[in-house]
Amino acid sequence: MISQNSIDTVITSADIVREVERAGVKLTRSGTTLKGCCPFHDEKTASFTVNEKNQFFHCFGCGTGGNVVTFTMKKYNRTFVEAIKQLASNYSITLEETKTEPKDVEKEKETELLKDVYKRTAQYYIGRLHGKASEYALSRFSEKTLQIFKIGYAPDEWQGLWNHLLNECRMPESLLIKSDLFRQNKNGGYYDFFRNRLMFPIFDRVGDVIAFSGRIMPSITQLTDESQPKYLNSSESILYKKKEVLFGLNFAIPAIRKYDVCIVVEGNADVVKLHQLKITNTVAACGTALSAEHIKTISRYTKNICLLYDCDKAGLEATHKNALKIIEAGLNCSVLRIPDTGDGTKQDPDSYFRSEKQFADDYTRYTLRTLYTQSIYCAASIFPNLQTNEMDVFDIYFKKLLENEL
Ligand code: CTP
Ligand code: MN
Repeated sequence: MISQNSIDTVITSADIVREVERAGVKLTRSGTTLKGCCPFHDEKTASFTVNEKNQFFHCFGCGTGGNVVTFTMKKYNRTFVEAIKQLASNYSITLEETKTEPKDVEKEKETELLKDVYKRTAQYYIGRLHGKASEYALSRFSEKTLQIFKIGYAPDEWQGLWNHLLNECRMPESLLIKSDLFRQNKNGGYYDFFRNRLMFPIFDRVGDVIAFSGRIMPSITQLTDESQPKYLNSSESILYKKKEVLFGLNFAIPAIRKYDVCIVVEGNADVVKLHQLKITNTVAACGTALSAEHIKTISRYTKNICLLYDCDKAGLEATHKNALKIIEAGLNCSVLRIPDTGDGTKQDPDSYFRSEKQFADDYTRYTLRTLYTQSIYCAASIFPNLQTNEMDVFDIYFKKLLENEL
């Protein structure tokens, strides 16, 4: 842990004006304050102020404010400790560590080592994205998108990654065994878990790779392999907690803040595609149900969640369940429903949306805004004699909606 003494040194040494300017905000002086355009929301007239004497900032446009540490946390999506470390480095301050339990030191070391394994693994998969695998990837996403999301290919080899990490990266076998990227065979040897799959790295909030999701590749999978699941995912680890991680969040935070709404989709492919269409405030819950932790994480950036799930029955049911959770958590929920094309094809956001403009049009046309208020209003008019609490009204309304009775 960083000592309180060091934290105080950082806070008194770091200058808010310098940090705001370092972040690219142009400030002009007017009296004791400095003014500029707010880096946390879109604006043309300057409502962002910095008080040099008292070392704080405040935006009259969006209400954000705080000291140099809060600024760094918000601007670069850092935790408190990460922000202190970043500022210490800007001012060449050496941080003193207080004594930590040997167990914690061990855990932190293991975390760092595992992150290194995943980083090199992602690089390896990118390097192997050739030929048919590359053709398939490019049939779904642009080259630039593949680069941004670091999408790669796990080759159809039993020990391709194992040999690479062991021999070329010179990583210790004991570390590889811990990484969840390998499985043991009957003879005690290890083989690659992900083989012949399109690989999506899963990132944490600051963009470090913490797990992988591998999609089967229809164009190059043998017929005998058809029994395999569409996606194979990393298991839970000290880095990867499925209930907490939102796929795409590291890329989405600035846009979630800017538009003050977070769009939640079902699949990783939907996230990647919507980001490609510049709808970058989109995340997914990695194929698991949206948990209370997920909702809490989102609530750090916005109080508005828009659910955009697949057009099928499962998608509608998940929408219903998750909408209730969001509203129970005290957030606002809206739902964007993809219109049914009526030809029996299973539409999802990835297959349905073709352009940013189409998304904008549909968002305006098909979104059930602030579902909570609207549902109570509608339900009250449909069931005038309903004696029940608000949540039940919402529930009934939503069920009717799903049954297309409204
Ligand atoms: N999923 C999973 N295991 C499966 C199927 C799905 O873990 N066997 C998870 C994945 O995280 C996937 C999400 O559930 O992203 C949604 O599933 P689906 O809609 O089938 O996948 P898409 O992301 O739409 O993938 P694609 O478009 O490539 O079919
Ligand atoms: Mn899909």
